[in-house]
Amino acid sequence: MLTYHAQTMHSYSSVRTKSHFMDWEHQPTQFKIYPETFKRIALTKHNPDHQFFYLIGGLTAQKSYPGVTYALRTNPSAGALYPTEVYVQIRGVKGFEDGIYHLSPYESALVLLHSLAKEEGVENFLHMKCVEGFVFLFSAIYYRSSWKYHDRAYRYCLHDTGHMLGTLEASCLLAKKAYRIVYDADKQALNTLFGFGNEEFFLSTAVVGEEKSFICQTPLMQLSYVDGTGTFEANALIEQTYAKTCALHSKPQFTMPTVALDQERFKQAIWKRRSIREFTQKALCKEEFLEVMAFINAPIPSDCDTDIEIYAIINRVEGMWKGVYKEGDYVQSGDFARKAGYLCLEQALGEESGVTFFLVGHDEQNYQAMVQKAGIIGHRLYLISSYLGFGCSGIGAYYDEEVAEFLKSKGMILYALAIGR
Ligand SMILES: Cc1cc2nc3c(=O)[nH]c(=O)nc-3n(C[C@H](O)[C@H](O)[C@H](O)COP(=O)(O)O)c2cc1C
Repeated sequence: MLTYHAQTMHSYSSVRTKSHFMDWEHQPTQFKIYPETFKRIALTKHNPDHQFFYLIGGLTAQKSYPGVTYALRTNPSAGALYPTEVYVQIRGVKGFEDGIYHLSPYESALVLLHSLAKEEGVENFLHMKCVEGFVFLFSAIYYRSSWKYHDRAYRYCLHDTGHMLGTLEASCLLAKKAYRIVYDADKQALNTLFGFGNEEFFLSTAVVGEEKSFICQTPLMQLSYVDGTGTFEANALIEQTYAKTCALHSKPQFTMPTVALDQERFKQAIWKRRSIREFTQKALCKEEFLEVMAFINAPIPSDCDTDIEIYAIINRVEGMWKGVYKEGDYVQSGDFARKAGYLCLEQALGEESGVTFFLVGHDEQNYQAMVQKAGIIGHRLYLISSYLGFGCSGIGAYYDEEVAEFLKSKGMILYALAIGR
């Protein structure tokens, strides 16, 4: 097991003894805004070319409490802290100047950071020839999350970026565009090219376009540092773990998922996706569960498709026995609803769901790709639940070792999620 993963496990005693101090005076900001001198393209929701970008982390709702209003997005985020930022290189796409852009959800705009000269591009960093179309780059500003979750925040940065990749996937499925995720990029060199300080680092990239035969030159881009948190406290464990986990062992799988969903309903599911806060405890039905499983198990095209085991604790599904279900078989029978709630740090969501999922992985050599893949699967769970008319919530907090013991697994527990009515 990766040392970092072991060091950041929750246990019954750790959550009761560790300090949970939150420095409210220095709460980080959730939006990175480039100076006004950079040119912007305002994104209009109803323009189909713009909608493609808008659905990748765009704002879809607001939540108000006395004195504060939060913007909610197409992607969920642990603690609604939104560490993930999105950049995109566009080449040869009608209506857009060739360039490297920042996708700014706050402004609903593409911010032009650098106009591309003919032979320039970031593809070298992805070990690719020039791409006509889009190259997306996904980073995390980790203090937005470590401000609250301390060392465990690196996991959430990876989950959240996986969810953001999930929004890219959904937007591509809707626009009928092929995509592939590239984890094995020279991320540290890209961090330098983009002028990031220690607090922001790239975690993945994705190509939506066609690879051509010529090789690009590194862009002569001189971006100065732009603060994306307002306040920052370095976390040595997170920075060291990032550096240690950048190298990957390639496991390519480039088959696209084939999805037979009604396009308009799927679009609504993307717009309306939210985290459920409370279940009514009404059951799901077996057909719904099987449709969920088919959707989340569809292939994910990437250069590092590491295996993830999906354990489903069936709590309330009409037509199915209660128990622990893995890859089409029951590995334990019985009513484990209370146990599932307890394992999710006593959160009612884990107990009152139709199904509570635990995602498990073994591939410590590909930790970045593995946890992001768990986030992508999590995103698919959200979208298919929204599509079928019930709810979903990510659950990042669980008693790691007790979950592994219950599942009789030696793997790393990567993520929990609950679905139901
Ligand atoms: C990685 C991750 C972990 C999460 N963990 C929890 C959790 O433990 N409990 C919970 O109630 N919600 C959890 N959530 C849901 C977030 O609170 C929610 O996404 C956020 O408040 C934004 O709301 P929205 O998803 O409705 O847009 C999690 C979400 C993510 C992506």
